[in-house]
Amino acid sequence: MSKKILICFGTRPEAIKMGSLVHELKKEKAYNVKICATAQHREMLDQVLSFFEIVPDFDLDIMKANQSLNELSSRIFIKIDAILLDFEPDLVLVHGDTTTSSVCAWAAFHRGIKVGHVEAGLRTFNKHSPFPEEINRQITGRIADYHFAPTDISRNNLLQEKNSSENIAVTGNTVIDSLLWTVNKLNNNFTNESILNLTSKINPDKKIILVTGHRRENFGQGFLNICKSLISISENTDVEIVFPVHLNPNVQKPVTELLSDYDNIHLVAPMDYPTFVWIMMKSYLIITDSGGVQEEAPSLGKPVLVMRDTTERPEAVDAGTVKLVGTDFEKITSEAFSLLNNSKLYEKMSKAHNPYGDGKANKRIVNFINKNL
Ligand code: UD1
Ligand code: UDP
Repeated sequence: MSKKILICFGTRPEAIKMGSLVHELKKEKAYNVKICATAQHREMLDQVLSFFEIVPDFDLDIMKANQSLNELSSRIFIKIDAILLDFEPDLVLVHGDTTTSSVCAWAAFHRGIKVGHVEAGLRTFNKHSPFPEEINRQITGRIADYHFAPTDISRNNLLQEKNSSENIAVTGNTVIDSLLWTVNKLNNNFTNESILNLTSKINPDKKIILVTGHRRENFGQGFLNICKSLISISENTDVEIVFPVHLNPNVQKPVTELLSDYDNIHLVAPMDYPTFVWIMMKSYLIITDSGGVQEEAPSLGKPVLVMRDTTERPEAVDAGTVKLVGTDFEKITSEAFSLLNNSKLYEKMSKAHNPYGDGKANKRIVNFINKNL
């Protein structure tokens, strides 16, 4: 009988990073592969499912507006348990550091089912930053039977925590597989309505600064500082700021209240993945607190200012394309102006390189599963 694999994800970044793996794994005839979307995100998840042409076999549909971490976790625990009992997988694959991944891993462990963790071993060792993701990742790491570490640094973190080296594979990050696949489509004339819409909105002669933000530890004063910095940066009329605003109400409220009235600040809805990749490719500079964007931008040769105090992704910082600026008004503003005005510094930070992978992470993960399951 073929082995059964359940792939669980629920948020936008997990779906982007698992989307290309789903297709790679489904090529293997030896497995019965099913997809479980917790739908911790709804609209932002559906955008990705549609682009990757994935229809989940199970959709837990658990998102509620402004959900707390505990209510979210409890809804996932109850609903995923029914799926585990029904499908009886031999392996559950989870991704990264969300509530979906740690709760699904934990639920599988309670049922005696093996867990594979994609994007394993990233650490800040600071339980408050990123919050709650650092602890989610450590919990999943304790539970997982197979660890798919994107880099040697993440592998070393797992070894330090006494995981056995034979259960760890260094694969690169699947985000690069998904990114390169999407870039290839865009380079072969893929377009859609939202790309055409943005093309008509943005002055091509100006420098595009792309902004995203959603981290819980930045809610409140952090977001107020970020908005103040963007207003200051927008005083340079040579720039166009494009800000797809995350649907979390703790982000929507300050951003729309403070930034709606500026001609060169474009607040837009979360973009579908190809549109976001397209705008990254057109951007001069990216200012973000996102994990995934920190991994994608170096491949595209785009400098990134990261609005966080810590990062579990030190590789691009070490390589010089990513700089941590926290949520300090002076720091964000002055670093952005330096990159706008100092061409030498800009060139230094905009060298394309791939510390996070070569686009073959999915194949390595599938090979490891073939050998070990
Ligand atoms: C979650 C993850 C975070 C990840 C981020 C990616 C946790 C604890 N957090 O944070 O690690 O970096 O996703 O974006 O797992 N909402 C919608 N529609 C959507 C998505 C979100 O309305 O499609 C709103 C809802 O009001 C929801 C709120 O955003 O309650 C927060 O969503 P949630 O998944 O709890 O947290 P994120 O901040 O998105
Ligand atoms: N992204 C997207 N549309 C947007 C903003 C981001 O498709 O409007 C993609 C981005 O390319 C990256 C992922 O979403 O792959 C990052 O998601 P997010 O920042 O929400 O989460 P994180 O990576 O911080 O967990």
